[in-house]
Amino acid sequence: MNVIQVENYEDMSQKAAEILIGKIRRFPAMNLGLATGGTPIGTYRRLVQDHQMNGTSYQNITTVNLDEYVGLSEHHPCSYRYYMEAHLFGKVDIDRRNTHLPNGNAEDLKAECDRYEERIREIGGIDVQLLGIGRNGHIGFNEPGTPFDMRTHIANLSLSTRQANARYFSSMDEVPTQAISMGIATILESREILLLASGEDKADALQGLLNGQKRFSLPASALLDHPCVTIVADKEALSKSS
Ligand code: F6R
Repeated sequence: MNVIQVENYEDMSQKAAEILIGKIRRFPAMNLGLATGGTPIGTYRRLVQDHQMNGTSYQNITTVNLDEYVGLSEHHPCSYRYYMEAHLFGKVDIDRRNTHLPNGNAEDLKAECDRYEERIREIGGIDVQLLGIGRNGHIGFNEPGTPFDMRTHIANLSLSTRQANARYFSSMDEVPTQAISMGIATILESREILLLASGEDKADALQGLLNGQKRFSLPASALLDHPCVTIVADKEALSKSS
């Protein structure tokens, strides 16, 4: 695992954007796995700035997101489709037909999970997967206890994850209890992984990942088996790692 320590959130976002922009320029038809949440917002902002200033193109880029809430329409301001439109898709020249998120409103959610897996296979897999990390060490919405061989599935969100995400909703009751998430096995098949972490509340999870053993109680520890992981984390997030 390659760990790049940076000073703060802005530096993390800058470094992550530099890495991604470099790859997108070199491989303009690559398949990019994307994450939502607070962590990648600064990175997306820099990708947009670079697109506007330097013309880096997303015309031939295909994206697949990690997850989507169950029960929110894509027009709901807290849906991840809406987030991606607001932070990236709506601001670069990407072809929407090449952007993929699970449909959390599908009538048959199990069939939707299988369709999503199939779609990832059809596009030829993910070249670089961007990840955040939950306070409890989740990646995607693979909460502690999720077996590492799971593929895209319906995930029950833990109370701590719902509480962490409640800041985007008007009340805790509105936070969905389920999401469709790529499984850990799906994530591990990405050819390269770029994990971002900022802030003290991620320090325990990172410590567990960097100093620990592979275990189901820390989903991110599955990454220890992956041959090509880069972590960009700030000082606070690394404050408990030796
Ligand atoms: C988002 C995702 C989640 C987040 C994680 C951290 O698509 O899959 O695993 O990366 O919950 O969230 P933030 O960045 O808000 O701290």
